[in-house]
Amino acid sequence: MSDVFAPATLGPLRLQSRVIKAATFEGMSPRGVATEELVTLHERLAKNGVGLTTVAYCAVDDHGRTFTNQLGLGESSREVLRGLVRRVHDAGGAVSIQLGHAGFFSKVRGSDGRGPRGPSFALNAYGVSSGLPFARAMTERDIEDVLAAFGRAAEIVCELGFDAVEVHLGHGYLLSQFLSPATNRRDDAWGGEPERRRALPLAVLARVRRAVGRERVVIAKNNLSDGFTGGLEIEESIEIARAIERSGDVDLIVPSGGFTSRTPFFLLRGGLPLARMAAAQDDPLARVSMRVLGGAILDRYDFEEAFFRPLALRLRAAVSMPIALLGGLVSKVEIERVRTDGFDFAVLGRALLADPDLVVRMRDGELERSRCNACNECIAEMDLGGLRCVLDGPRAA
Ligand SMILES: Cc1cc2nc3c(=O)[nH]c(=O)nc-3n(C[C@H](O)[C@H](O)[C@H](O)COP(=O)(O)O)c2cc1C
Repeated sequence: MSDVFAPATLGPLRLQSRVIKAATFEGMSPRGVATEELVTLHERLAKNGVGLTTVAYCAVDDHGRTFTNQLGLGESSREVLRGLVRRVHDAGGAVSIQLGHAGFFSKVRGSDGRGPRGPSFALNAYGVSSGLPFARAMTERDIEDVLAAFGRAAEIVCELGFDAVEVHLGHGYLLSQFLSPATNRRDDAWGGEPERRRALPLAVLARVRRAVGRERVVIAKNNLSDGFTGGLEIEESIEIARAIERSGDVDLIVPSGGFTSRTPFFLLRGGLPLARMAAAQDDPLARVSMRVLGGAILDRYDFEEAFFRPLALRLRAAVSMPIALLGGLVSKVEIERVRTDGFDFAVLGRALLADPDLVVRMRDGELERSRCNACNECIAEMDLGGLRCVLDGPRAA
């Protein structure tokens, strides 16, 4: 009998189950400000047995934003987030927040008017429609600013009461860009050999740990593979996990994969909802190119249950610290198998969007499989008025 639906401990935290809600950007923070809808979404997951719910993709500062409606930590957001934490706790859950920095993959300028920056000069196709087709290489000063921004953001979210901080080291955002040999072509202390490419991500984790102390949990979301030739591969991902384990700064690794600028569907698998994604583009040119070229540019990957399991098992075998399994967990059999495979937690994204009450229903023997069919329409929905599952029917007017 698997204990995945039973209470568990993660670092200093007591959780009502071993099921963690993956960060899925909610699209519920217009101009960066958290809303009541965001609170309700996470409260509902906590009421329904999710052990730890994750508020997605919060920018550490305004230079780290990917787009303008990304969640930020400005004063007006803080009050809402403080209430969110309280309501999740009252519902019996615990709550994490994902902190990220976009690096070169950004549509927006910082408040000082500066465009996006990454480890090395880069083309930024995502920023073309907003007049930001290139990104500059970060200076030493920029790197110090990144470290300070992660530290400050971690202090703020602790002050708001969050139980855990998830640092985004994957999916082709800044720290993933530093880790990847394809995008980090620096020859200073922050690039070149694998040890130097991982120097900034490890320094960020250390800074976050220093900011949050030992009373809170630190989670690292890492890539197992970038999903393209020349990118980060499993062998190096294992070395990164070993270095994280040695650092002692992290309580849990959540392995994922893919690079948003190149292989966005590697991390999802399943449908390519091009028409809805086109509708969600704010710029007419981007709308047309998504509709006309999307299918040619975006690689398609068939959906398979537990699609990261083979790579994640290699990571599991290489380190002894807690590791979760994420990616395509939809059936009770696979969710329970997470524990018999030796993973510590099951992390679910789309299945919990389709069935927010999945934990209690699976625990009570009422549900064998989530109704999520990996259509991926939810990807467009987050930009069309807020994250929702289209299986719930048309959006209320
Ligand atoms: C609508 C949507 C939004 C997502 N937003 C984020 C995000 O903000 N940060 C992140 O790390 N991953 C994000 N992801 C990826 C998920 O966290 C997860 O890695 C992926 O969906 C695979 O898990 P699943 O098969 O359980 O859905 C998103 C996925 C979806 C479907």
